[in-house]
Amino acid sequence: MVMTQSTDSPPSPFNLKTYLGDRQPRIEAALDAAVTLAYPETIYEAMRYSLLAGGKRLRPILCLATCDLMGGHEAQAMPTACALEMIHTMSLIHDDLPAMDNDDYRRGKLTNHKVYGEDVAILAGDALLTYAFEHIARHTQAVPADRVLRVVADLARAVGAEGLVGGQIVDLASEGDDSVTVETLNYIHTHKTGALLEISVTSGAILAGADDGAVATLSGYARRIGLAFQIVDDVLDITATSEELGKSAGKDLQAQKATYPSFWGIEESRRQAQQLVDEAKAAVQPLGAGSEPLLALADYIVARTH
Ligand code: FPP
Ligand code: MG
Repeated sequence: MVMTQSTDSPPSPFNLKTYLGDRQPRIEAALDAAVTLAYPETIYEAMRYSLLAGGKRLRPILCLATCDLMGGHEAQAMPTACALEMIHTMSLIHDDLPAMDNDDYRRGKLTNHKVYGEDVAILAGDALLTYAFEHIARHTQAVPADRVLRVVADLARAVGAEGLVGGQIVDLASEGDDSVTVETLNYIHTHKTGALLEISVTSGAILAGADDGAVATLSGYARRIGLAFQIVDDVLDITATSEELGKSAGKDLQAQKATYPSFWGIEESRRQAQQLVDEAKAAVQPLGAGSEPLLALADYIVARTH
């Protein structure tokens, strides 16, 4: 009897490392090409110094992943993916300034103002912020203009007083205040980090033409992973070393900041983060097999050590 071998092999399990290893170099190349050296060199050097300093590129990855999930192609979302990283980077440049957190190290390197001075660092942040919007508007291809406009509007809201800036100002005002409640802490984090993560997830889907129901489902996923991300960040600030983090560890305690572990302790904080991740995964499961990167990224958030 002749045995015919099936050409169908079982689907290989999703591998996040391979997935990231495939996309991160393309994101790096797109960022490198987006901000090139020109006159006046100092500002472009300072922008590139922080923008190309590595990092997980989590926001661009999320944007590309949801564009793919909703049937779009990478070129439609790459300018927005880069813009998200530009805005994330500028927020960190400004956050590290002496007027805010006064930090010397970021992503394992001296902070922007330590290398270029405070004046240049402020301007590098401003230039990255404004260029992010120009980059989306000018370079997004094969996407109807109304979708691009919606992404620009949603992104602007996510970074302004209703988003990152709002979260940062409440964070700064809460430093050293021992009457801060867990509700205030939630406000800080859903705005300071959550808002940009949420638009990272929804923008890719919007660019791909997802309907409102799918965008709302993805928002629910993003809000949960955003909060879980911050809880884990607070835990790592206590449990990880500065070398592991690439920035100073133990700063929250030093700055007398309210954190999730300060309310719940480390074990309960980890449990809450895990629960949020489980809920986030359950929210996107109905979107089908293409949601695997989102499921794995949610797991990665609680498992990360830096
Ligand atoms: C890091 O938090 C800081 C942020 C996530 C955002 C800060 C936002 C701003 C400075 C506003 C920027 C302006 C615009 C227009 C977006 P952290 O200090 O808790 O974390 P860290 O330990 O990594 O510094
Ligand atoms: Mg900081």
